[in-house]
Formats: sequence, structure tokens, C-alpha cells
Amino acid sequence: MLSLYGMLGKPMIYIIFIICNIRRKVVCRLEMNNIWSEYVQGIMTLYLSRKLRFDDIFFEQYKSVFQLDPEAKIKILEIGCGPGALAEALHRWYPKAEITAIDRDSSFISFAQNNIAGVTFLEGDATRLPFADNTFDVTISNTVQEHVEPTAFWGEQKRVLKSGGVCLCLSARKGLHCQAPCLEMTKEEKEFWESIPQSESELDKYGVCRYPMTEAELPASMEENGFYDVTTGYAVINLTPDARKYSARMAELMIEAKRQNDLEAIKSVHHEYDEKVINAVNAKYDERLRLYHEGIKQWDTSISLTMIVRGIK
Ligand SMILES: C[S@@+](CC[C@H](N)C(=O)[O-])C[C@H]1O[C@@H](n2cnc3c(N)ncnc32)[C@H](O)[C@@H]1O
Repeated sequence: MLSLYGMLGKPMIYIIFIICNIRRKVVCRLEMNNIWSEYVQGIMTLYLSRKLRFDDIFFEQYKSVFQLDPEAKIKILEIGCGPGALAEALHRWYPKAEITAIDRDSSFISFAQNNIAGVTFLEGDATRLPFADNTFDVTISNTVQEHVEPTAFWGEQKRVLKSGGVCLCLSARKGLHCQAPCLEMTKEEKEFWESIPQSESELDKYGVCRYPMTEAELPASMEENGFYDVTTGYAVINLTPDARKYSARMAELMIEAKRQNDLEAIKSVHHEYDEKVINAVNAKYDERLRLYHEGIKQWDTSISLTMIVRGIK
């Protein structure tokens, strides 16, 4: 440092120090902005799984709890929208509503902006919503509450809601999963996952699920934070490709969503991965598709339960 000081002089050292600091902050900000999509859940993992969860065939279940007028010209804000599948569904279900959706992750927002029409997608923080008081008729979120400090989570929604506005909080609960034999983990995948060094859990590191709440705590927390007429309901999402009630498009989407989940999980650990693990994953889902199209039933199923808590400002 002394010789560097000697060579460059004091002002130059200051300038280098300032540039390094700005660069550190910029890099840090960029990384912070993409943490979810890079390290926690990839774009396709979230988009395809939610596209299924918010398919029109499940709308009746949500509608009965949401209690919103499909004809009303209301303003809806979705918080922590990820790649935008719920906002996309809301636009279909409430075509006269003006829908805004925000998320902290810039990759999710640019994916949504490029792929979903009729919704305004913005980068923003749930703990500092970039909107004036009393702006919206409805706020809604899906699997976001457990990641955001509760006083800020409820307080900001209460602030931006109009008096009498509706707060809807959707939260995933324990479900039921039954795997098809052809989808068991392959030798290549086992080897890949065993080769990943044990380290601090990525999820802990990024504060994922820092504020979990039970089925009883969630409505109580909404009430404690100033909402009234709080009610709860549940939507049961049954995804079984071989069940006759689902179209081929829906069954293929169920299989594809799982494929993308497995592929993005491998890529998100940011280790060198051999193409052979990717090929192994693709081969097993190609096989599952073949069995589906040949009518050789596997009866693999995934049943998820979404809790919906509704309160009034
Ligand atoms: C489990 S994902 C759910 C995404 C989306 N709601 C869906 O169901 O596809 C949680 C989302 O919350 C977002 N998130 C977490 N903390 C946030 C905050 N303070 N402000 C805005 N978004 C946040 C993450 O970026 C991520 O997109």
C-alpha cells in the first residue's frame, strides 16, 4: 500500500477507493436483485408450477374465498409476484380490474414484462411499497408472507389499501406426493447431489422462510395487524396426469413443470455439472411423457393445499 501510495499519490488512492466501493455496492445490488431466481427457485420452476396451480379449472375454489366482483373496475396489487403466473390468472378472472404486480427479483420482473400482457409488472420491495396511501381495492400474495417481516408485510398492505379494501394472503400447506417409478432419482443425479459439498443451507443464508406461520397463526397475525372480518379457506390442487378429467395439454404441463424444477435445481447450485446429469433428467421425463401418450398409467400425483386468508382494512 505504501509503494502504491508513493506511486499514485493521495488523491488517486481516494479515487480508487471510491470506485471500488461503488463497484462493490453495484455488484452487491445486482446480486441481491436476482437471489431468488438464481439460487432459490428458477423462473420456469415457479412459472410452470403456478400456471398449473392457477389454471382456470381451479378458479371456482379461489373465487368462493376471494369474494371479488368479476365485473368491478377494481385496482389489484400483487406482492412478490415472481414470474407472474398468479397476476396472469387474475387478469383472466377479473378482466375489468387494473392489475399491478411487484417483486424484488429483477429477472422475474423482466420475464413477466416480456411474456404476460395486461398487467403492470414493477421491481419493488414488499416492506417499502412504492405506492401512495389508499391506492388499491385489493392486495394479494402467494407464498410470500413467510419470507417477509410480518409488521412490514401487513403494515404496508394496510397502508396502500383503501378503507374497506380486501387483503388476500395465499399460503402453501403440506400436501401429498406420490412419484411414478420412472421418475425415481437416477444414478447420475445421485452422484451429482452427493458431489455437492455440505455447506450452510442456501435457504437459511438468504432468509428464505424466516417467518413461517401455522394455520392458526396466520389469520391471527392478520387480525393483530389491524385487519377485520378475517376469514380462511382452502383450495385443493390435485395434479394427476393420468386422471381423465385433465386434458393432454394439462397433463404434459404437469410433467414439464417437474422436469424444469429438477433441471433448474441442478443449475442453481452453481457447481460444475456434467451434461450427463442433464441428459439423465431429460431421459426420465421423456419416458414419463411416452408412457402418458401410450396410455400406460402411472397414477403419480401431487396434491397441494393452498390456505387463503382474507381480511378487510
Ligand atoms: C416463493 S416465491 C413466490 C413467487 C410468486 N408469488 C409465485 O407464487 O410464483 C417468493 C417471492 O417473494 C419475493 N420476495 C421475497 N421477499 C420480498 C420482498 N421483501 N419484496 C418483494 N418481493 C419479495 C421473491 O423474490 C419471490 O419471487
